[in-house]
Amino acid sequence: MLTNKPKTKILVDGGDPDETLRVKSVLGFVDGQTTNPSLIAKNPEIQQRIASGHTLTPTEEADEYRKIVQAISPLVGDAGVSIEVFADLDTSAEEMFSQGEEMFSWIPNAYIKYPCTHEGLRAAEMSVQQEIRVNITLCFSQEQAAAVYVATKGSREPVYVSPFVGRLDDRGEDGIDVVKNIKTMYKNGDGHVHVLSASIRHLDHLLASFALNAELVTVPAKVTDEWAASNFPIPDQNFTYKAVGANGQPLKPIPYKELDLNLPWQSFDIAHELTTKGIQKFVADYRSTLQRSA
Ligand code: E4P
Repeated sequence: MLTNKPKTKILVDGGDPDETLRVKSVLGFVDGQTTNPSLIAKNPEIQQRIASGHTLTPTEEADEYRKIVQAISPLVGDAGVSIEVFADLDTSAEEMFSQGEEMFSWIPNAYIKYPCTHEGLRAAEMSVQQEIRVNITLCFSQEQAAAVYVATKGSREPVYVSPFVGRLDDRGEDGIDVVKNIKTMYKNGDGHVHVLSASIRHLDHLLASFALNAELVTVPAKVTDEWAASNFPIPDQNFTYKAVGANGQPLKPIPYKELDLNLPWQSFDIAHELTTKGIQKFVADYRSTLQRSA
């Protein structure tokens, strides 16, 4: 079991309470959990139902999601459980907010995940005004993180922003650079946004997130197992991150940009191809669990 706890909070990236329990027994704790529509679609009970020909209605799917997060909620520490709204590319901020409001009532430690789009940020803006905790997901650029900062300024609760490291690596760019750039940019801010390093694929991503002092990191069980198997290393000041992709090729660096956090959030260019693709994938995975007529 882990004796030297890192400063970075550790969340489980998954959709199965049994898995959370298992990670907890390996680490001795878990600080929180992130879920998303793809992870919920992979939940063993939902998969079993689908395998036996019983797909779900949207109401049943929401009920299942609620039951899953209610089972996870008491297992985790103060980083809470992130619950993602079901949004496609046309979902309005008002629709997302109304889902978010409902989901926030499911458990006492919820964070509502909204996509890092114009409508997602409007929903986040509305949410923080109502003291609904938020996690802005599918973040792939420093500009998006700047917009998150400005849109949620004044929030009484910490706001999470989730840069997706692995998905940038997948297309040859150094995802860890985005975590580093956001942390640097926020240094002169008021500290209300916490960086949640996400889309972690291997041990080096985890260690780099610790080394960059990300406030939080969300980790699939496969990677917590890798960390445990290596006896829980924590990087020291000599740690250097090797920015190479799965094929061993060097990843393209993502340069830092000077951005002014006093500008209106709408002035930042927040469009990102991977955000669009990410929403489409969540929609497809969510729909795969639903009845054809839905
Ligand atoms: C974060 O909240 C997401 O659930 C997650 O990290 C996505 O990771 P993936 O790129 O492995 O799907």
